[in-house]
Amino acid sequence: MTARADRGKTIQPIEWLDDRLRILDQSKLPHEQCFIELADYHDVALAIKEMQVRGAPAIGIAAAYGIALGAQSIKSSSKSEFTNRLNQIMEEFAATRPTAVNLFQAINGMERASTGSDVPAVKQALIDKARQIHREEIEATRQLSHLGAELIHEGFTILTHCNAGPLATAGYGTALGIIMAAREQGKRIEVLATETRPLLQGARLTVWELKQKDIPVTLITDSMAGYFINRSKVNCVIVGADRIAANGDVANKIGTYTLAVLARENALPFYVAAPTSTIDFSLPSGGEIPIEERSPLEVTHFQGIASAPGGVKAANPAFDVTPHRYISAIITERGIIKGRYKRELAKMAPQKQTGR
Ligand code: MRU
Repeated sequence: MTARADRGKTIQPIEWLDDRLRILDQSKLPHEQCFIELADYHDVALAIKEMQVRGAPAIGIAAAYGIALGAQSIKSSSKSEFTNRLNQIMEEFAATRPTAVNLFQAINGMERASTGSDVPAVKQALIDKARQIHREEIEATRQLSHLGAELIHEGFTILTHCNAGPLATAGYGTALGIIMAAREQGKRIEVLATETRPLLQGARLTVWELKQKDIPVTLITDSMAGYFINRSKVNCVIVGADRIAANGDVANKIGTYTLAVLARENALPFYVAAPTSTIDFSLPSGGEIPIEERSPLEVTHFQGIASAPGGVKAANPAFDVTPHRYISAIITERGIIKGRYKRELAKMAPQKQTGR
């Protein structure tokens, strides 16, 4: 079921409607603001895979609601049958997108919420847990946005990559949340947004979100970043993250590493903003982060039209890993870390965490 968004209202990219999930279809933005209502958990998993909902925290939230939805559809009242079926549902979500760790944190959280013996009570506990994950991500992104805004000064031009705004978090955003908070503090700032090939999250989503907040933004192609950074047109780079390893290495949208190296070469601060749900304490370094390889058609075609000779070989890794030595600070809801990442991140580790 689809519906158009009302103009002028605050848009909720993900909303739980008791027996279904409503999401803003990000694949249609900016031309169409369409909501889809998903009553079947398979459709939620597909919406994540096909990037109708995307961005690390938003993927985790959507998966949690999707699992809660799937649990409601299990007919058996036997706890062992219910658990077997629930595990299959969780596996389906785990197979959607491999890089954003928020997905696996959400699945682990839902698994922990399903341990009771009474099936109806567990079904309710799963809905409650999904709502809690959503609330916590909203609060975390609100806090990190305000903390990070301290790093943005009057007159700054900030370069950002991909989309790390409210759409990507179903909250306040991470990199864009900080930019928006700085603006709310009355700072005069400008943004350079990279278009973010091949799926154009920067051009389609970041520019759309910044325009809604009346924040001045200039769209550039990814390959223009060096030109602007080298001509002193940029004061800092801020990006989000899909997974942060225990030593502070960061996986984010493909092209992030290039920007980090450019920032270092030109003595610019390179900031990463992410809630602590994006930290994977089970991985010692970024080399172990699974990188999603997407269809080569996203590279050889543009909006369905071939832009390269037929049959050409194309690669499409969706993320890259930036080593922590290039990162000036990691901004989380629990504080800003500047260096000594392994030691400082460890202080944020929950008592027990299992990775995938
Ligand atoms: O492939 P996407 O669009 O899901 O990738 C999103 C990103 O890389 C974002 O920068 C990241 O998830 C941070 S979102 C706050």
